[in-house]
Amino acid sequence: MGLHEDVGEILFTAEQIQEIVQRIGKKISEDYADKDLIMISVLKGSLMFMADLMRAVTIPCSIDFLSVSSYGAGTTTTGEVKILKDLDISLEGKDVLVVEDILDSGMTLSFLLKSLKARNPRSIRLCTLLDKPERRRVNIQADYVGVQVPDKFIVGYGLDYAEKYRNLPYIGVLKPEIYSD
Ligand code: IMP
Ligand code: MG
Repeated sequence: MGLHEDVGEILFTAEQIQEIVQRIGKKISEDYADKDLIMISVLKGSLMFMADLMRAVTIPCSIDFLSVSSYGAGTTTTGEVKILKDLDISLEGKDVLVVEDILDSGMTLSFLLKSLKARNPRSIRLCTLLDKPERRRVNIQADYVGVQVPDKFIVGYGLDYAEKYRNLPYIGVLKPEIYSD
């Protein structure tokens, strides 16, 4: 099947995503006006969100990227998290904002926060485009949330299934027959 045919339902169009991103960018620009902001993108899912969000931020900031593994090709978490690509920039004294695509079980971010806090940032907060609160397995909340989504498998705008569908410009629900889990 084709790229678009595998999507059962569109949750947010490209235009709706931009409205959400602009809203968060404005808030971050206000909150971090007198801070030393570094935005950290968790690859690869937050690629597009990061690219759009940083342009919606109107104050000086630096950026960096890291990559973690937690999912393999499946649709549910194994709970195992590993840093595959680490940051280049030191976090010492910085005001860190971790930028994620989706907060699901919370396992990934909970692990990441512990690791990043140990690097002596001045502050650390979480920003997630999507939040699936029903699925939470650890007690963690994002400081900036784009929008809440239902407990369905979501693809597009950076989010993948088995490394595909990231290039969809919208966010949608993958047809369940596409994955067997
Ligand atoms: P968590 O550790 O369960 O919170 O998982 C977070 C990561 O799992 C996200 O950064 C995504 O890469 C991935 N993930 C969780 N739910 C989905 C989904 O519905 N679609 C695509 N990826 C997801
Ligand atoms: Mg991700």
